[in-house]
This record gives sequence, structure tokens and C-alpha cells, in this order.
Amino acid sequence: MISETGVDGIELNFYQTPSDFNKDAKEIENEQINIVKEIKQKITIPVSVKLSSDYTNILSFIKKLDAVGADSFVLFNSFLQPDIDIVNEKHLNSLNISNDGDYKKSLRCAGLLFENITADICSSHGIFTGEDVVKLILAGSSSVQVASTLYKNGLQQIETIKKELELWMDSKNYTSINEFRGKLSKNKLCPNSYAYDRAQYVDMLLNAENIFM
Ligand SMILES: Cc1cc2nc3c(=O)[nH]c(=O)nc-3n(C[C@H](O)[C@H](O)[C@H](O)COP(=O)(O)O)c2cc1C
Repeated sequence: MISETGVDGIELNFYQTPSDFNKDAKEIENEQINIVKEIKQKITIPVSVKLSSDYTNILSFIKKLDAVGADSFVLFNSFLQPDIDIVNEKHLNSLNISNDGDYKKSLRCAGLLFENITADICSSHGIFTGEDVVKLILAGSSSVQVASTLYKNGLQQIETIKKELELWMDSKNYTSINEFRGKLSKNKLCPNSYAYDRAQYVDMLLNAENIFM
């Protein structure tokens, strides 16, 4: 019914904060894959899927959603999390606003997914500035979504982000996003680069003398 109103697309938001001890990962993931499959069979407008990063192997799960026809992925949603006021020993109602620099998990995922799935990648979470947007596009995103930066910096931040992106593109003589999208994705890096595989600190700390300067 919504697709018949003339909307350009639909975003499915898989709000998933497991609290059921008896439901395993496969059951949850299959349920979500079937939802996308069923919706794609019934409507023709694009269907985007917004996910949390909390899956055992987000890449394998996204690949399955890609195979049943998801047109894009919004990576990642952030959920409200509980917090506690220790003076009054009560739960707090806190708004989960992201922090500057929180985009790195989204960047990793965009860099790993680029050219490995058919769907578009829309990055979200902790994207605050035009510089952040440039980084996400270099990793492989086609677009971004922002929320927290608008709460912190006001709606005019959208214009600022666009201007910063344009300035950077001019400085590099790029005229379209496609000219640099995915340039720093895993697929485009030399085979022995481990930028997207690095997880431990030891090598970095042993080999980088200037890291804390
Ligand atoms: C005040 C606020 C309200 C939000 N409401 C929704 C919502 O209704 N549905 C949704 O999918 N995400 C909602 N989000 C999550 C955002 O869409 C986004 O996924 C998340 O905030 C990460 O992006 P950000 O770091 O730019 O805020 C909300 C976020 C904030 C801060």
C-alpha cells in the first residue's frame, strides 16, 4: 500500500536488540531474509535495509540479503541503550547521540563490501562533516545518512557538509562522486595491504614510533 502512494523507495529497519535467550542467530537472520524476500516479490520500488552492526558475520548476512534483492543497505543504525543514574538508583532516559569519529565501523564495512555486492551502500553512524563523507565514499559508499550531527550542529550542517565535500572534490579535480567512490576499498588496495583486516594493536604499536606524537 505504501509503494502505491508514489514514494521513491522503502527503508526496512531491522530493529534488533536480542533479549530472548532461546532464539539463535540463524533463526533471527532467516526471519529477516524472508521478510526482504517477500517484500521484494510484492513491490517494484527500491527496498533499502537498515541494519545494526551486531551480527556474528555481517558480511555473510548482507550477502544473503543482497541475493534476495535488497537494493541498498544503510550501515549502521544505532539503538537506544540503557543507562543508570547511580545517585537515585534509577534508569535514565538518555538519547543516544553519536560522537565525532564514530563512523569507523561503517567505513570498514563499506570498504569490505564495495564491489562484492550488487546493492548500494549507504553509510550511517557518527558521520559529522564533509571530511567524514569523503572518507566513506572513498571506502565505497554511494550515500550517507546523518542524524546526530544535526542535533549537535543544527540543520545548516547539511549545507556545510555539501560545501566541504565540493571543496575537497575541487581540490582533487573530481567532477563526480563515481570518480573516487571505492578508491580505498579493500578490492582496490594492493593484495598484501591489511588496512581492513587489522584488528590487534601489537604490530601497530611495535612498528609506529611516531604514533603518539
Ligand atoms: C534523535 C534520534 C532519533 C532517531 N530516530 C530513528 C528512527 O525513528 N528510526 C531509525 O531507524 N533510526 C532512528 N535514529 C537513528 C538514526 O537514523 C541513525 O541510524 C543513528 O543515529 C546513527 O547516525 P548518526 O550517528 O548520524 O546519528 C534516530 C537517531 C536519533 C539521534
